[in-house]
Amino acid sequence: MSLRRRLLCLLSDGEYHSGEALGAALGVSRMAVWKHIKALHELGIDISVHRGKGYRLPATLELLERECILAATTSSSAKAISDIHVHLEVDSTNNWIREVALNGAASGTVCVAEMQSAGRGRRGRTWVSPFAASLYMSLLWRSNCGAAALGGLSLVTGIAILRALQSLGIEGAGLKWPNDVLAGTEKLAGVLIDVIGESSGPCALIVGVGINMNMPGEAAHAIDQSWTDLHRLDGDSALSRNELAGRVLSELIPVMELFEREGLQPFLDDWHRHDLVSGQRVDLLLPNEQISGTACGIDDGGALLVNTRDGRRRFLSGDVSLRVAP
Ligand code: BTN
Repeated sequence: MSLRRRLLCLLSDGEYHSGEALGAALGVSRMAVWKHIKALHELGIDISVHRGKGYRLPATLELLERECILAATTSSSAKAISDIHVHLEVDSTNNWIREVALNGAASGTVCVAEMQSAGRGRRGRTWVSPFAASLYMSLLWRSNCGAAALGGLSLVTGIAILRALQSLGIEGAGLKWPNDVLAGTEKLAGVLIDVIGESSGPCALIVGVGINMNMPGEAAHAIDQSWTDLHRLDGDSALSRNELAGRVLSELIPVMELFEREGLQPFLDDWHRHDLVSGQRVDLLLPNEQISGTACGIDDGGALLVNTRDGRRRFLSGDVSLRVAP
């Protein structure tokens, strides 16, 4: 465990700790403690300093832990996990998984991080990822199906997220094609799929999941879309990130297995039940045109169906931005 993580562990009770006591526990000088506190500050972690009392976090802190995540994962899903890597900070958990995938990491490798310095959203957007505020997690999944057959993967990942939330008693979220989990019109979670490999034959899928849990106000200023978090939705700030990570993996792994075997078909009913866009007026932004119409669900291939004045059209997710008309 890195020294910074050990330092955060010591501070995680939300109480004051003197530089001397922290230094003794970590086997470093008071000056070294101060330097690490400064570095954590620079990462945006709010540690207050009080002369005579020492350092303190504003509240208790639950750090991500491999064992706690595994304890919250069903045993059948845990069998498909080859390892869980926990980081204090990465640029993006999807990027981290990409690197290890290129170096031969096994299917079922998971990466979670307390924060991302360059979290990525769909279509080149930034995914705002402040420290310990949300879940940032990516799963590596190796498949022989070929990327072309896996077009609906972001849709079924959304279904897995909804199931995980429901297993925690959190209702009221729905799906917006192709990869958003919303509460009403506000974004609660997103899915980013990266693919390494050919359109047919073996490929490595990187399934990235971001779920807003307790977004601090200052960080939220940087979010360029209407958003919400589980704290607002559920009022339970004590929701455990380790437990949520375990629940998502518990749902995501069987969903991946079934999707690989049978495609989108077994998920269509669930999608239709939770589809927040069907029946709504929508605007679609394509690279060279803008289209308006009424959304009418998805087809068996996961394409969005829209009734336009030129008849029914289907859209694949690649280059499309979907806006529900106000
Ligand atoms: C979107 O809705 O635009 C997709 C958001 C996906 C965010 C997650 S957070 C974990 C993983 N790492 C990233 O950089 N992005 C995904």
